[in-house]
Amino acid sequence: MGAIFCPWRLGSLDIPNRLVRSATEEGLSTGDGAPTQRLVDLTADLARGGVGLVVAGSAFISREGRGATNVTGIDHDALIEPLGRMCDAVHGAGGLLAAQLLHSGSTLRPVMVAEKDGPYGPSAESVDPVCGAPVRALTKAQISGVVGDYARAAARAREAGFDAVQIHAAHGYLIDQFLSPARNRREDAYGGSLQHRARLLYEVYEAVRCAVGAGFPVFIKMSAHDGWPGGVQPDEAAQVAAELDRLGIDAIEVSAGTPEGTRRNGWDHIMPAPIPEGRFFAYALTVKDRVSCPVISVEGWRDPLRIAAALERIDAVSLCRPFIREPHLAARWRDGDLTPAKCISCNKCLDLIVDRGLGCIFHKGARGQALTDA
Ligand SMILES: Cc1cc2nc3c(=O)[nH]c(=O)nc-3n(C[C@H](O)[C@H](O)[C@H](O)COP(=O)(O)O)c2cc1C
Repeated sequence: MGAIFCPWRLGSLDIPNRLVRSATEEGLSTGDGAPTQRLVDLTADLARGGVGLVVAGSAFISREGRGATNVTGIDHDALIEPLGRMCDAVHGAGGLLAAQLLHSGSTLRPVMVAEKDGPYGPSAESVDPVCGAPVRALTKAQISGVVGDYARAAARAREAGFDAVQIHAAHGYLIDQFLSPARNRREDAYGGSLQHRARLLYEVYEAVRCAVGAGFPVFIKMSAHDGWPGGVQPDEAAQVAAELDRLGIDAIEVSAGTPEGTRRNGWDHIMPAPIPEGRFFAYALTVKDRVSCPVISVEGWRDPLRIAAALERIDAVSLCRPFIREPHLAARWRDGDLTPAKCISCNKCLDLIVDRGLGCIFHKGARGQALTDA
């Protein structure tokens, strides 16, 4: 198990082991985006459970980019103080916490459409596959606004006390839509060639870097494959990763899949059971071949022996659902119980975040409100 519990560096950040809690939307924030005490407690508990780095659930960088009513925000300065309390709680528990910055684009819950000016995407569409509403194309001025919103959100994350920021460029949200040749049919500098489709991402990275400074850890979660032939493909994703590496990104978390891939050919972006161990590992290796920064592989990691073997070729692995069921999974493995994660990938956690807040039907949560005992 030495490989798992071996320290590593994400930019200037020393991380004690190779297990990352991948960003997990908790549905436990107030209407204006402030974390509730239940979310603070849940996040601190993950830190106590020994995971090397916790990536908080995605935080919306602007009201327009908000994808659900109960998610965390980082779009205005009044949130710095409540977010700071979450950072303090994690640090008090001996952990490290990253903020994940997100503009949802048109990938949002249908109930959110009414509050939108858009919803917006790279190109106009008569109906978005996720929210079911017509999509408006962002103007160039609005794109500059989005870039500025990411930068200001990153500055707030740093001020609040987060240890790193992660740009969410995966899973069919706004930046991934720009990268997708099918979703992005623009004919200006933000569409067409890969360099043009990736321009928004590069501008966001540069603006975030400028906002937080050279020494502050900035990393990305990106989809190496959108899950259907018209979307982002692994070779293009690896080219984008190589350019981000050249620009100075501190790490790349490699995921895959979009809701559109699920809709078009059943290629789920958060796969239910049975899930292959390290489902997207091959994509992470493709990226690893092209970059010098650390690469993190996400999805389907459940068996510590398989994880240890993967760590001979990759820098870290990230897990989401296993930490919902077992917040202290890292400590369990560290202390010698090497049975695989108990998570059965039933995806009931995805239902719970909509109206009850993050939980596992098999887990007694912070308030002991288990739905099922097992
Ligand atoms: C309840 C839930 C919420 C999620 N929220 C986010 C999120 O906010 N940001 C993100 O990048 N991925 C999110 N994901 C995806 C996970 O980070 C991860 O990529 C996926 O669950 C696969 O990893 P796993 O097999 O370890 O669960 C979420 C997944 C679940 C199940």
